[in-house]
Parts: sequence; C-alpha cells; structure tokens
Amino acid sequence: MALGRYVSWFRRLCGPTAPTVDEGVKSEGKLAKVFSSEEDCGSRESLKEVAERIAKEFEFSDVDVRRAVDGFVKQMNEGLRSHGCTIEQLPSFITELPTGFEKGTYLAVDLGGTNVRVCSVTLEGDGTFSLIQGKSAIPTVWMTCDNPSGLFNWVANFVHEFLEQNYPDSLTTAGTEDAQIFSLGFTFSHAVHQLDINSGNLIRWSKGFNIDGVVGQDICALLQNAFTELALPILVTALINDTVGTLLARAYASPKSVHTVLGAVFGTGTNGAYVEQTSKISKMTGSRTGEKGIMIVNTEWGNFDQGMEYLPTTSYDKTIDAGSVNPGFEMFEKRISGMYLGEILRLVILSLVQDPKVDIFDGVAISEMLKLRAKWGLDSSFMSHLEGDNSPDLSLSRTQIEKCIGMASFQDAQAIRIISHAIGRRSARLGAVAVGAVIVHTGCLKRGEGEGRVDIGVDGSLIELYPGFAAELKAALGEIEEIGEGEERIDIVVTKDGSGVGAALAAHVAAKRL
Ligand code: BGC
Repeated sequence: MALGRYVSWFRRLCGPTAPTVDEGVKSEGKLAKVFSSEEDCGSRESLKEVAERIAKEFEFSDVDVRRAVDGFVKQMNEGLRSHGCTIEQLPSFITELPTGFEKGTYLAVDLGGTNVRVCSVTLEGDGTFSLIQGKSAIPTVWMTCDNPSGLFNWVANFVHEFLEQNYPDSLTTAGTEDAQIFSLGFTFSHAVHQLDINSGNLIRWSKGFNIDGVVGQDICALLQNAFTELALPILVTALINDTVGTLLARAYASPKSVHTVLGAVFGTGTNGAYVEQTSKISKMTGSRTGEKGIMIVNTEWGNFDQGMEYLPTTSYDKTIDAGSVNPGFEMFEKRISGMYLGEILRLVILSLVQDPKVDIFDGVAISEMLKLRAKWGLDSSFMSHLEGDNSPDLSLSRTQIEKCIGMASFQDAQAIRIISHAIGRRSARLGAVAVGAVIVHTGCLKRGEGEGRVDIGVDGSLIELYPGFAAELKAALGEIEEIGEGEERIDIVVTKDGSGVGAALAAHVAAKRL
C-alpha cells in the first residue's frame, strides 16, 4: 500500500494540529502510528535491537535447566506415589520390552494430534517390519464437538475403507466360519488412566481436542463399539500412548546390546514414557506387575509444573494459555510443542506490528495480514523454514514470510528469525529438562548397562524436522550436573512409525497373555 494513502488518512484522523507526517507513519487498523523526528533520529531502538530484547525474554539459562530437572524428578516421584499428580506417571500394563524377535501381523490405529493412521504391520522377527498404511488429517469438526462417538465412528469408517482396499476378503467373510479376526493395537495420544493393557479411561484431552462426554470413558470400548457397529472383524486388544509406542518400536529395532530407556514425542504435543522398576510405583497395588519387575510408565510430562514453580513465562505464554481449551493445564507442553510454538511467534510478531514504536513490514496495515490475524495462523513448520535458512540475504526466510504474512525486508526477516530462534531454543532446552530428568531419575547413565550407552527413541515433527532442535536439546543435557560429559553416551534416535509399530508390538504382548 502506498505511503500517500496513510498520509491522507492520518490527516483526516488528526486534523490540522497533527504533527508533521513522515516516513514513520503507519496505518494500524484505525490508529495511525506517528514517530516524532526526535525519536526517529535519536534513541529509537532498531528493529534488530527490539528483536534481541524480546528474544532475551525466552532465555532459559543453565541454572534454570538444573533447577527444573530437580523439580521434574521430584514431581515424577510424587506421581509414582499418588494418583492425580502433576506428572501423572501412568502405568501402561506393559511389563517387558521387545527383544526384536517378535513376529506376526497386526492392525494398528494411531490417533495423533493432527492425523489418524491405520496400518497393517508385519513384525519380521529380526528387528525389522513391513507396513501398509493409510493416513488422513482428522477433520476439525470431530476434534471439538458434543458427540462422544463422532470421532470414533469417523475412525471406524476410515479403517473400513482401509480393509476394503487392502483386505477385501476379510469383509466378505466377516461373521462366517472362515472369518479372519484382526487383533488391533490402538495408539491414543492423550492422557489415559489405564486399567489394563486393553482398557483405559480418558483423564483429559490435550492439543486442542475437546469432545464432550469422553473424559472418564473407556477409550478402547468407544473404538470397539464403533467397529462393532460397522461389523468390522476387529478386536481392539491393546491400548497404548504414542510415547509407549515409540519406546516399544525403538526397543524392537535397536541392537540387542543396547537398552532403550525412554520413548519421547516432540510433535504437536510432547510427552515421554520410560522403563520403571515396578517396586517404585507404590500407588499401584494388586495390579498385573509382570515377572521382570519392570513397567513402562507414561509420564504425561506435558503437564509438568502446573504450579508454575520452574517454568519460564512471558506475556505471550499467558495469552496462549488463557485462550486455550485447557487453561492452567499442560503448561510445559504449551512452551515446547509444535502446536503452540508457531502461535507464540505469531503473537510476538502481532505485538510488533501493533507497536507504534516499531518499524516492521513497511507500514502495511494489519488488516491485510490475514494469517497474522488468525489464531493458529502460523505453525512450527514456518519456524523450521526460518531456522534452516543459511542464505546470506535471508531470501528463503523472506519467501516464507511473504507466503505466510506479507512482503518482508531483510531487516524484517532478520528480526523474525531472531525471535523464532529464541522460541525454538527455549523449547529444546525445556525438552532437555524432561529427558534429563528421566535419565537422572532412572540412574541409567550410572548403571553402565548396554555398553554404557543410553538409548532413547524419539518421534515428532519438531525433533525430526526442526533444524538444530535435537542438537540444542543434547547440548542442554550436558549442562545437567548428573549428566555432564555423559551426554556423549546418550543416543537420541528418531524412530519413524513408532506409533504404528509400537501398537503392533503391544498387540503382540496382549496376544501372548491370552
Ligand atoms: C498428550 C500425550 C501425548 C503427547 C504427544 C500430549 O498432548 O497428552 O498423551 O503422548 O501429546 O503426542
């Protein structure tokens, strides 16, 4: 938009007594921005300085990391002792790790934060697998609604299509003597209080989901009922969290000499599941505990520090929480995971555009920046593009910003990158708090098992696609006193298809128990 239009519009607003209009005038909805000539030539911060000042708000120092690790370990122990704690520490009822020799074909449904996948997974018995899969974005209409079975019916229809395409005979023989019944492992990525390997009640929704009438319900039964209504030849035999799936899948594929300790997800949401000594889970009485004395525990670490003793907070974090479907919950996740990072950046950029003292986007009116005005208008893939831009003129960043917000100068791109980097770095360092705390709590570095290496399976868009996220997380691990140089013995391994393969492995465990 030409400057002339702002000038005349501004004059209309302010009348003859208005100060001289110069390059500093920008349109801002109904408000014109005016800079006095003194501010222009003298003390005004450059855009880069403004960005650096805001970036500082997202710093999370080494001291902060260490303090938060102590708090995290404390809250992990509380969760092992009592129900309903900040870190829930939910037993998965899986009491052994795969050896890599597992065999068989199982169906899996992976209901994630953004997509649903249905797979048929064949475990080959040598740490490898083959997989056929169908994937679809979850329609937003089913994420927040008042129909408790809507989402599950939609999933069942999707599975029906999958069977039609890949196993048509199973549908024609259903209900006859020749019927082939599939065992299905269900990966469900929200906090569930498991009652057994094949049942569990939803504790709360996260990642923007909010379907009435499901909290407290058995998630397995809801999916099984939806299959039964469509007469699908499927038995839901196992229910797992996606982090449990990642841990199982990594343990299945890892070399036999290595002990996998943790499965973690850094994607739309964040969470981790680890191998705990059953004797330490004092809140669990009279339950199935297994022969090996271990239990995979789903921490639900996204809700760490609900009391806000250790987490950093900016005004942008507060805005996100207040406008979320679960205010006061998942405060850790809201500072780490992909669902929220782009929104934090959007809020910062919006505040810059609205600040009369800041020169950004050459005065283009905010009314023209549709994505910037829309809640959730920027996502973390936008930040990944900026972070990966090594061009001297920031041309890649400028193209991305142009696509998502509007024409950006070098200075605009530079400022947005500085802030985006700070938000991503804080997320990775917070991620290190969780990973580090599990390492400290389990003492796995000290035990020297598995050639002295600590093996961690990870999945999710941030750890996989955000440049430097894993490196930043590892560097912060080295700052934790109990880890230090031991950081070099920690292997963080991306475990693709963890949820699907993990669900198949869980169905395999369930089959052995029958
Ligand atoms: C959920 C967890 C899940 C994580 C990663 C969180 O929002 O509460 O159950 O494991 O996202 O998908």
